[in-house]
Amino acid sequence: MIIAIDGPAAAGKGTLAQNLAKHFKYAFLDTGRLYRAVGYAVLQAGKDPSDEAEATKAAKAFDPKTINAILKNPALRDEATGNAASKVAVIPSVREALLQLQRDFAEHPFFEDGEPAKGAVLDGRDIGTVVCPKADVKFFVTASAEVRADRRFKELQDAGKPADYDKILKDIKERDERDSNRATAPLKPAEDAYVLDTSKMNAVQAYQAALDFIAIDHA
Ligand code: DC
Repeated sequence: MIIAIDGPAAAGKGTLAQNLAKHFKYAFLDTGRLYRAVGYAVLQAGKDPSDEAEATKAAKAFDPKTINAILKNPALRDEATGNAASKVAVIPSVREALLQLQRDFAEHPFFEDGEPAKGAVLDGRDIGTVVCPKADVKFFVTASAEVRADRRFKELQDAGKPADYDKILKDIKERDERDSNRATAPLKPAEDAYVLDTSKMNAVQAYQAALDFIAIDHA
């Protein structure tokens, strides 16, 4: 069983994916973290995330065995890393290097302790369209840019970090633009995806709506 969850930044797809994975006892992969890890590695090396050779080298250096440890790095959550991720994600050879890894996980999902799982939940931008076009369930989780910026703003405030709403909104719009207009695997709903607009929902309501959809569609 594969559940694919796509959508723009800060739409609530990560929370939904984790809730569904917990509910069904499936393994979860946040594929944005893979791109973030590549962006982070390039920044750490003092290089430009748009540099094709550097970014491809970083993407190819991934060892699936140590992936859980790499993806746990808290620095991957930073906005600067998110922006670098969005830049490396435009490069086709980076996407190619990460594709098999994601497909392998979907086909043979495993938990953090290495135990195999009977299903997978993957979240990203192109899971339902490119990585797992045959996924059993596909969601496209979205919300207005303003609502998403507001959520990010509150998250940062709650964490006691500096937050500037206008800058967050500008970054989100820039990222949407880059993710949606790139030539390879752009952000868009799969034709058979269930579009969940969470602008007027909280995380619990979005989770309930997703469970209702699965219950009806896969009864
Ligand atoms: O979901 P996120 O914000 O952590 O993703 C960071 C960036 O990675 C995002 O701007 C686009 C890219 N990405 C992608 O191109 N394809 C995916 N499947 C996941 C993320």
